[in-house]
Amino acid sequence: MKKRAIQKHLLDWYRRSARSLPWRGAGDAYAVWVSEVMLQQTRVETVIPYYQRWMQVFPDVAALAGAPQEQVLKVWEGLGYYSRARNLHKAAGILMRENGGELPRTVKELRKLPGVGEYIAGAVASIAFGAHEPALDGNGMRVLARLTGYDQPADTSQGKKALGGVLRSLLPDGEAGVFNQALMDLGAGVCLPRRPRCEVC
Ligand code: ADE
Repeated sequence: MKKRAIQKHLLDWYRRSARSLPWRGAGDAYAVWVSEVMLQQTRVETVIPYYQRWMQVFPDVAALAGAPQEQVLKVWEGLGYYSRARNLHKAAGILMRENGGELPRTVKELRKLPGVGEYIAGAVASIAFGAHEPALDGNGMRVLARLTGYDQPADTSQGKKALGGVLRSLLPDGEAGVFNQALMDLGAGVCLPRRPRCEVC
């Protein structure tokens, strides 16, 4: 399939089928950041109540930075991988001291924050700030591996690099954030690991 056709089909499908998730459409970079950190190692269904509670207790960077670590870990409790919470807290402090409580808008600057790797940086830059950057999670990787017939292990630095390059080459102008999320949703609901629903794709 040609690039234009892939873009059109995926975006059309997403407009019809996007999951309605509490952090979508908030237009709030902090909300995108928090949700992506939670989602990096935890399933969407599990994340939703934790995300909602977190945003009530720590509605913005200032609230998070000003909270004691004990409270931050308490609100995180149950999600596991606590270094994610400690890094969010630490990063919020850095943002308050160095950037007026604002998240930076570029992948390069975002990646300097503790806990922000390539995926989170790409997700925040593209979804919150409209940057032309890929954000590839495990679901998206599976979709692209199948689409391109990639037959090497995807979960290696080489695989990520190769499929990240594929994604970058497919990103539609001005809609990278939407496209990234569409790919994740297609992987999560249609292009499943086992028994993919090929007939609806
Ligand atoms: N998994 C992680 N981040 C996601 C997002 N923004 N949309 C859908 N699934 C995701």
